[in-house]
Amino acid sequence: MGLRIDIVTIFPEYFESPLGVSLIGKAVARGDIEFRVHDLRRWATDVHRTVDDVPFGGGPGMVMKPDVWGDALDEVIGPDAAGARLVVPTPSGVPFSQDMAAAYAAESRLIFACGRYEGIDGRVVEEMRTRMPVDEVSIGDYVLAGGEVAVLVLVEAVGRLLPGVLGNAYSAGDDSFGGDGGPAGSMRGLLEGPVYTRPRAWREREVPEVLLSGNHAAIARWRRDMALRRTAAYRTDLAARLRSLDAHDRRVLAESGYNAEGSNES
Ligand code: 6GU
Repeated sequence: MGLRIDIVTIFPEYFESPLGVSLIGKAVARGDIEFRVHDLRRWATDVHRTVDDVPFGGGPGMVMKPDVWGDALDEVIGPDAAGARLVVPTPSGVPFSQDMAAAYAAESRLIFACGRYEGIDGRVVEEMRTRMPVDEVSIGDYVLAGGEVAVLVLVEAVGRLLPGVLGNAYSAGDDSFGGDGGPAGSMRGLLEGPVYTRPRAWREREVPEVLLSGNHAAIARWRRDMALRRTAAYRTDLAARLRSLDAHDRRVLAESGYNAEGSNES
């Protein structure tokens, strides 16, 4: 059984090419994912196809109308909401994570409600929560003009975790964030370091010697060192949460300017 994804938006054309190409496009072709994109304006009731109105209490911008969203979601969800999860992208949501992507990849039905303007009338999420699980999800601490691009981010993160989507069963394992930390689980919680391919020398720059050594233990150690260094430099928040560090790990972190108090002096 595949994953069915409904997307409700005022810009259905946003989704035309991204869902048809690359990994997601292939998953669709194989039947591992099915997308249905719905134009919210179909449920607008006036000649102008209005979907927004001025905010009660004043303030800037417009708010999306609960009646239009309610009718749209009722019809898209259908008579049986069981087994469906509603996902509402919003900068005010919980931060999306690799763990959530993995949980979504195990669902059978996701419905994405793309808000624009200042957001959707708050009663819509409230009412839908009485019928099904609802997640308000943010993809980061910045503000987009609408949920469409965020939905593409969520769909790609989820789609690559579906069984059969990755060519190589191991290639999600070493990823920065999540996976299982690779075949030996040695990279969990770390940002991935740099990777290299041929030619061995390019613009006078040599590929790190250890990667040509055939010494798999030394290669794994080197990769972990590089990952620790990058994590120390870019993400002190992640470095602070690392567990089961040995003396060597701690030295690599310290040499990268990281100290356990969470600041980074490099
Ligand atoms: Cl999910 N939506 C919008 N509009 N802006 C965002 C976001 C989502 N996540 C971060 N910024």
